Amino acid sequence: MARRSTLFSLSLTDLRTGLCALVSAALAYVPLVYIPLVSASQDFQLSDQCPPSFLRTDNNRCELRNLYQLYDSLGDRGVGGLKTALPTHRDGFSPQQIDLGRLLFFDPLLSADHSVACASCHNPRKGFSDGRARSVGIDGQRGSRSAPSLWNSAFLNAFFWDARAHSLEEQALSPLFSAVEMGNNPQQLLASLESVEAYPELFKQAFPARVHLDIEMVATALTAFQTSLISLNSRYDQYAHGDAKALNTQELEGLNIFRSFVARCSQCHMPPLFTNQQIAVIGTPEPEGMPRDIGAGATFNSAKLRGGFKVPSLRNIAETAPYMHSGRFATLREVAAFYTGGRGHAVPEGEELLLHWHISEPNLTDSELDRLVDFMRTLSDNSMQPVIPQSVPSGLPTLYKQNLSQK
Ligand code: HEC
Ligand code: HEC
Repeated sequence: MARRSTLFSLSLTDLRTGLCALVSAALAYVPLVYIPLVSASQDFQLSDQCPPSFLRTDNNRCELRNLYQLYDSLGDRGVGGLKTALPTHRDGFSPQQIDLGRLLFFDPLLSADHSVACASCHNPRKGFSDGRARSVGIDGQRGSRSAPSLWNSAFLNAFFWDARAHSLEEQALSPLFSAVEMGNNPQQLLASLESVEAYPELFKQAFPARVHLDIEMVATALTAFQTSLISLNSRYDQYAHGDAKALNTQELEGLNIFRSFVARCSQCHMPPLFTNQQIAVIGTPEPEGMPRDIGAGATFNSAKLRGGFKVPSLRNIAETAPYMHSGRFATLREVAAFYTGGRGHAVPEGEELLLHWHISEPNLTDSELDRLVDFMRTLSDNSMQPVIPQSVPSGLPTLYKQNLSQK
């Protein structure tokens, strides 16, 4: 890896050039550098390559590289303040851990009745969401919230709409053992994994220092895979890095409305992650007939946060309809219209919600709402979409066949 060893001893300008080349090389060769070494026969072998845009270190860890790492501050810098750094992120997993996590993520073996995989609700072809207002788990049970996208979750510091989990490892145990999602329990999950011929050997490849397969290893592998889901090369990003032509006039107009002091979208959906990782009470209406979801009010036992939700990232937002914690809005246009409806317009009478001060009445025109939608559509980038396994060690069906025609 000559490129890696020279990269670290160069000046900043060289580093910038090197990094650009590296990032574009990584993007250009997606299928070449990340061929999962899983064949259709039951001969499973984990990849020893890091996914694109990760560099493998000498001790076999994958470290993320992206152009935002050239920008050192979270404050406003560069033309229009777009050259700002990303928050800290999780990385440093081995290629084998990432690849094992990928197999586990797509394997329905992880659910009690072997019918539901993580990918059933977090489908890469649907922005890692499921296209439903509220997710459906084992036995057709319907949950109470919509499935968030998992893109860029490496950068998040709280998980779930109500911010009740603090790490991806902690988060992963929840769907596995929730009665309405995957309905499993730790004993049965471990027994299922051990009963499949390939898994004990694959866990050994991913965790060479460990003797017994345990739940912590399952959570680590799932975390490793999820932190590799990086989407930072949208047309918006190309614009932010200096390609003035990456956005057209209408999209630029949308960007300017988005970050204006009238609309205030960027105060909460702060670039480059498009979330400030805070909780905000914005007064989203619940679907007809559903009780108020008090969200973070329950997590923090706080009346002030009643009806508060984590500000979601808007990356790949065009793919994850319907929107909001309950999937109440079918389109981005409906979401944009909600924000201009006037402070608290959707809060039923007698409902105590302390709305965030950035929720006001911006009085945006119809064409301004259209431009906001145009802009949000520029935040899509699927270039690092992981490969959906054609088969998984359990031999159970994966999304691979199921959705091939829907792409
Ligand atoms: C039955 C559908 C379903 C399954 C199966 C499922 N999830 Fe989820 N996932 C959801 C829903 C719904 C939420 C939001 C729940 C909430 O906020 O209360 C969620 C939230 C998450 C989050 C938090 C994202 C964020 O930004 O806050 C992560 C990470 C996640 N799931 C990963 C996984 C993993 C890993 C698996 C497999 C072990 C999995 N999910 C299985 C539906 C599902
Ligand atoms: C005060 C902070 C705040 C401001 C300002 C704000 N948002 Fe949001 N946004 C949120 C929160 C919190 C949610 C989740 C609310 C929920 O689920 O009920 C959200 C959800 C969304 C969603 C749906 C995301 C998803 O994954 O379903 C979109 C799209 C969105 N906002 C766009 C905008 C736009 C466009 C503006 C400006 C007109 C804006 N937001 C202003 C906090 C804010």
